[in-house]
Amino acid sequence: MATNITWHPSLSRSERNTYRKQRGFTIWFTGLSASGKSTIATALEQHLLHLGLAAYRLDGDNVRFGLNKDLGFSEKDRNENIRRIAEVAKLFADSSTIAITSFISPYRKDRQVARELHAATNAAHPDDEPLAFIEVFVDIPIEVAEQRDPKGLYKKAREGKIPEFTGISAPYEEPENPEIRIRSDQKSVEESVVEILEYLNSKGLLK
Ligand code: PPS
Repeated sequence: MATNITWHPSLSRSERNTYRKQRGFTIWFTGLSASGKSTIATALEQHLLHLGLAAYRLDGDNVRFGLNKDLGFSEKDRNENIRRIAEVAKLFADSSTIAITSFISPYRKDRQVARELHAATNAAHPDDEPLAFIEVFVDIPIEVAEQRDPKGLYKKAREGKIPEFTGISAPYEEPENPEIRIRSDQKSVEESVVEILEYLNSKGLLK
C-alpha cells in the first residue's frame, strides 16, 4: 500500500452526469461458463449504444489477454481478477458510462466487494451519490451449460485437462439476492435484454 497519497479534487459525479446527460452505473453479469452471460451482455451493450447511451462491456476472456494476463484460475487469482475488474468498472461508471461486466465471478465475497466498492464515495466528494450496481445472475443448470459447451472446455475439464474448472472442479456460488435472475435456457437473448431494460427503466437509470 502506498503512503503519502491524497485524493485529488475532481468533478463530482453529478456534475459529470449533467455534462454527459447520462448516469453511469455498472451491470454485473455472473454465471457459469456457457451460461450465455457474454451473449446477453453484448446484445445489451448494442441496444444501449443504439439508444445513444455510452456503454462499454468488459469480458472475461478479453481482459485476460491484457490487463489481467498475469492471472490464472486459482481462487486467489480469481479474487484479484474480480477486484481489478470492479475497480475498472467503477472508473467507467464514474465517467458517466454504463459499465457492463461479464465474468464468471464465482465467489460471493468477490461480488460483494465489487458492490461495496460502487457504494463507496471518496474523501474528495463525500456527498456523491453511490454508483448503482446491478447484479444479473445468468442462471442455467450445469447440465445445459455442459451440453452447450461451445468452446469444448467442459469436455476437457471432465477429461482432467483443465484444472479448477468452474462447476466441475472449482465452485460457483450462486447469488442469493441478485437484482435480476435470468433463466437463459428458458428465455431468448432478446427477451433477456428487454427484461434488463425494463428493470433499468423502473429504477430511472436510463433518464
Ligand atoms: S473468473 O472466474 O470470473 O475469474 O473467470 P473469467 O475471468 O470470467 O474467465 C472465464 C473464461 O475463461 C475460460 N476458462 C475458464 N473458466 C472457468 N474455469 C477455468 N478453469 C477456466 N479456464 C479457462 C473460459 O473461456 C471462460 O469464459 P466463459 O465466457 O465464461 O465461458
